[in-house]
Amino acid sequence: MGRGSGGQLALTLCCVLGSLWFTWGFPDGAPIEACILDNPNRPNHGYAPQDTRVNPSPYLVVASNYVYQPGEKIEVVIANHPFQGFFLQARDIDTNKWIEGGQFLAGKGIQPIPECSAVTHSDKLQKPGLRLVWEPPQGKKGFVYFTGTVLQNYTTFWSDIIALVPDPNRQRG
Ligand SMILES: *[C@@H]1O[C@H](CO)[C@@H](O)[C@H](O)[C@H]1NC(C)=O
Repeated sequence: MGRGSGGQLALTLCCVLGSLWFTWGFPDGAPIEACILDNPNRPNHGYAPQDTRVNPSPYLVVASNYVYQPGEKIEVVIANHPFQGFFLQARDIDTNKWIEGGQFLAGKGIQPIPECSAVTHSDKLQKPGLRLVWEPPQGKKGFVYFTGTVLQNYTTFWSDIIALVPDPNRQRG
């Protein structure tokens, strides 16, 4: 799939960590292997994501911007309903690849996965909401979207969520 250094990473991980597999949700969130799945959006732990046609996501996931540039952090908020786990990744709008060198900041309940510009939970405590901060790579600018999964619990989760971004033009009326 031409992920550049992602290919090497995949090779290394398969051999070193091949037997450790996916335990999203518990207790430490998605491991770095989440970076190399075909669909890093989704946990691979034996349950299907909720079908949004039947059971729409109760979560509001909102990013403060879709334009990134050096030194300007972007906030991503998960709100509206309690949850235990999550996995979000910053991806380039044009290429759909994760943004190399971008990283989330650590915090309470928050575990960055800087290897692939992603972030997951660091505990399985119930979270009423969370504010995440993403730092773009140094010296780069572009367009970003944030996508992933929010887990209400181990079995009930919504995948392929894409963070909404408020339209700045609307404020000008
Ligand atoms: C997860 O949440 C759903 C919906 O509230 C509930 O039906 C289910 O029993 C919960 N599962 C676990 C493992 O807690």
